[in-house]
Amino acid sequence: MANSSSSPSGRDLTQGIALEDIAEDGMVAGHVGGDAVLLARKGGKCFAVAAACTHYGGPLADGLVVGDTIRCPWHHAAFCLRDGAVTRPPALDNLKCWRVEQIDGRVFVREAMPAAQPPTPHIAQAPESVVIVGGGAAGNAAAQTLRLEGYEGPITVWSADTALPYDRPNLSKDYLAGTASPAWLPLRLPAFYAEHHIDIQCDQRVTGLDPQRKEMTLSDGRRERYGALLIATGATPVRLGVPGANLPHVAVLRTLADCNALIARLGNARQCVVVGAGFIGLEAAAALRVRGIEVHVVMRGAHPMERVLGEALGQMLRTLHESHGVSFHVAEVTGIEPHRVRLSTGVDLAADVVLTGIGVQPEVALPQAAGLALDRGVVVNEYLQTSAPDIYAAGDIARWPDPRTGEPIRVEHWVVAERQGVVAARNILGQRRRFAAVPFFWTQHYDVAVNYVGHAEGWDRVDIDGDPAAHACTATYWRNNRRLAVATVGRDLESLRAELAFEEETPVARV
Ligand SMILES: Cc1cc2nc3c(=O)[nH]c(=O)nc-3n(C[C@H](O)[C@H](O)[C@H](O)COP(=O)(O)OP(=O)(O)OC[C@H]3O[C@@H](n4cnc5c(N)ncnc54)[C@H](O)[C@@H]3O)c2cc1C
Ligand code: FES
Repeated sequence: MANSSSSPSGRDLTQGIALEDIAEDGMVAGHVGGDAVLLARKGGKCFAVAAACTHYGGPLADGLVVGDTIRCPWHHAAFCLRDGAVTRPPALDNLKCWRVEQIDGRVFVREAMPAAQPPTPHIAQAPESVVIVGGGAAGNAAAQTLRLEGYEGPITVWSADTALPYDRPNLSKDYLAGTASPAWLPLRLPAFYAEHHIDIQCDQRVTGLDPQRKEMTLSDGRRERYGALLIATGATPVRLGVPGANLPHVAVLRTLADCNALIARLGNARQCVVVGAGFIGLEAAAALRVRGIEVHVVMRGAHPMERVLGEALGQMLRTLHESHGVSFHVAEVTGIEPHRVRLSTGVDLAADVVLTGIGVQPEVALPQAAGLALDRGVVVNEYLQTSAPDIYAAGDIARWPDPRTGEPIRVEHWVVAERQGVVAARNILGQRRRFAAVPFFWTQHYDVAVNYVGHAEGWDRVDIDGDPAAHACTATYWRNNRRLAVATVGRDLESLRAELAFEEETPVARV
């Protein structure tokens, strides 16, 4: 995975710091030998951990200390300050830690500590086997959690994807731009799955499910039994329904194979039309501009991502993309030909490649065929259980009761999928954890990131604090005087604080 790890600077923490120089809940960045280290104070005690997040190297000094954890400002991973263990995705690996000693009011960072020990196994029930359908964010997190929690039975992951689980969000960002090496993408190397006895079967689609017999059918007709089952089949892109939409230069972007096929087509391409101004279309537009390709975005409303972010941030994104040379067209696509795209406005756009990003549909064919309760996704309770015993669902397919509003919601966010995978795995082992995490997503355009916490499908007011044009602002989405969601640009700490405030409305969210 990519890393922008911080290089050592600041104070030599082995030389000691006066305790009074570190504020309660505060941090001091420094170094120990060649390692960048963060000294954090909590409840009068101090902890020393690596200064860079293990996800993408986010600067933890700009994060937030919450209880005995530190949260990363970039994508809200959390780590235990005591032993560096990951307590929240999207980070997968623990932080390195150092021993800290206090002598006469001074704090000294000593030698590195041994790696964090796995948690004490807490298995109230151990199914005879666990089968996971889907090798994406949720499926991977669940498989890993089952082992971390001490489950020793067989784990099989069936994945229709040809590749082992990978960093899907990168596909519309650095990887598409050509600035990320393919080596960044795998979430784990094959040796990890082998070492943890996680049997991942790629390029294998599950086509049938019989909850009564606890049996599933694979596309080649084989039948497999399961003890407990997690369905994490994600979503599939909606296809454009206009003449020419099936031409070979019309692409979608969901899988690594999609992305590689798109990159291969970009070889001699000069112009690309992106249909849809959601976050995938827009991130892809930015990536294509990095490659020097002329980009035209066709969208329905005047502002990109307006349905999710509102007008002010939509306008900010439009201006940002325009400043990088992207052209926007408010129109419907009426037809696609080998070298052009026809618009409802009568405009014809030249296009060597057409990328459609007009939304996704939850991949519910399997739960539907099995008769599980559906409601624009798979209905799950607060424990992520479906309507069938021993079948859980997580990620883009799951519609769960939002503890803050009581309304059932479904989102398409990487971190939510991973956190649901973790909770589903724990519940498969009988831990009865409620899923109450505050939804979080980020989207990256050039050097501007938008972080979003909460969930607002509609609002009657948006308050803007700061200046969107300067890429430093906070948008707060309200309905009936209730704060539903907060989006920030250039204010990562505020996003972490907003997440915490939402959690404090429902204390269970911190679990
Ligand atoms: C290009 C791109 C960029 C994104 N960027 C961001 C971002 O910046 N921030 C953010 O928050 N979110 C982002 N997302 C969304 C995020 O990736 C998804 O929310 C997340 O991947 C959902 O995880 P999941 O496990 O539910 O599904 P997925 O990760 O899609 O995994 C589903 C898995 O199920 C498999 N599968 C499906 N059906 C079957 C079957 N019948 N049998 C066997 N296997 C099956 C698939 O092959 C796949 O392996 C992005 C998505 C894309 C496509
Ligand atoms: S860099 Fe820390 S969560 Fe992504």
